[in-house]
Amino acid sequence: MRTAVCPGSFDPITMGHLDIITRASALFDRVIVLISVNAAKKSVFTLDERVALTRKATSHLPNVTVDSWDGLLVDYVRRAGATAIVRGLRAVSDFEYEFQMALANKRMNPDAETIFLTTASENMYLSSSLVRQIASFGGSIEGSVPECVREEILRRFAPDAGRGEQAEAKPASSKAAP
Ligand code: PNS
Repeated sequence: MRTAVCPGSFDPITMGHLDIITRASALFDRVIVLISVNAAKKSVFTLDERVALTRKATSHLPNVTVDSWDGLLVDYVRRAGATAIVRGLRAVSDFEYEFQMALANKRMNPDAETIFLTTASENMYLSSSLVRQIASFGGSIEGSVPECVREEILRRFAPDAGRGEQAEAKPASSKAAP
């Protein structure tokens, strides 16, 4: 039984994340999506909300489960008996940060390999923070996040948009649109 852990903030899960999780689920017997704490980020969604949204978004994948953890990733990986940490890699901007994490994790847990899956080209630009920002200004995030996440984001960031077209959503800024 080969188990992989897909760790991240998932604040919230995007189509980019879902693509990586789906591809990892085809490579491993079991995939645990681990909502973890990134000390450098302040989350917008609570841990419980992120777990619930990620569970909904991955419910169609039978060998994928979702868990949360507020400790070191390598400790969870060891406890879960996982042999791989799977991360998505977007263009060059991610590389240095990912390389540093992979090396630090390897040093702490030599038994776990970090495996990078290249992000699909259509998701190259996507990030949770970009999605949140676009939604907060009333822009369309259709196709960027799973539908259950889109509904939740619209409820939170652009409440007016939930009732009709997103184009009708009020921008977060008080300035008139150009
Ligand atoms: O989606 P993110 O924010 O890029 O994910 C980063 C995350 C959560 C995977 C990373 O910060 C992490 O592993 N946090 C758990 C604590 C830990 O092990 N930190 C040391 C990493 S070398």
